[in-house]
Amino acid sequence: MKSAHETKAANPRLNEVFDDLVATLKAFIRKHHIQYDEYHRALALLTEAGDKQEIPLLMDVFLEMTVNDVTYADRPGTETTVEGPFYVAGAPMLKQPFVLPHRANEPGDVLFFSGTVRSTDGAPLARAVVDVWQSDAEGQYSHFNIPEAKAPFNLRGRLTTDQSGRFEVQTWVPSSYQIPIAGPTGALLTALGRHAWRPAHLHLKVSHDGHATLTTQVFLQDDPWIDSDVVGAVKGSLVVGLTKHEDPSDLRKRDLKRPYYTASYDFVLPRVMAKAA
Ligand code: DHB
Ligand code: FE
Repeated sequence: MKSAHETKAANPRLNEVFDDLVATLKAFIRKHHIQYDEYHRALALLTEAGDKQEIPLLMDVFLEMTVNDVTYADRPGTETTVEGPFYVAGAPMLKQPFVLPHRANEPGDVLFFSGTVRSTDGAPLARAVVDVWQSDAEGQYSHFNIPEAKAPFNLRGRLTTDQSGRFEVQTWVPSSYQIPIAGPTGALLTALGRHAWRPAHLHLKVSHDGHATLTTQVFLQDDPWIDSDVVGAVKGSLVVGLTKHEDPSDLRKRDLKRPYYTASYDFVLPRVMAKAA
């Protein structure tokens, strides 16, 4: 029943969803006969997640994919998937030839990731911005797992497509990635008897004026975790193969002098209606 003290300014949407959330949780407590021991364990988990700045990880692992499905249902163009907790805005704008910021001894194999950006009508999009972030070959994300002073924006950068909507960026092959297992999210997964792995992936935000920004990931085929991502974020349309280049005539590319890999993806962005002036 509505309280006489409720203010007129109260947000109706907030009231509706919050009331339903609380009603859903109350029904859940009754259904599962949740008593004080389990209630206190839930409080301890949430308190620890807050203290260790893990609320985003906890929420993203278990809930973000569903928010993504609901938000982007029926969206045309390249399929979206979760942003995850490790995006950092303001990565360096790179100059040609594009190479993601990396350490002098960046571990692993070089990857040239290339592709195109088009509109849903097929038109190539020049000067689209491709914001890339990924873990390194050891599954570490800069700003989160790698001390920032050592490698600011490591394997994070923004580049733009050329006149024909193409891009190519040099990076390093990401590895399968285990979400942090030392904290409460990992402890919960362990208690559930579930693994904490995500298949190797590149994260991307692709944007262009007049088009809806695409937040997605590109996954590497043949990864052992491709069918059991802990986050449930893999879609078949986002999986690409890696091609290895070791022929001596190939190794002249950018003077690399060592085998490297290539992968590519063609992104498609939906147009947004121009706002009425
Ligand atoms: C999540 C997403 C990631 O891309 C990642 O590397 C780790 C966790 C997530 O959604 O929880
Ligand atoms: Fe990730």
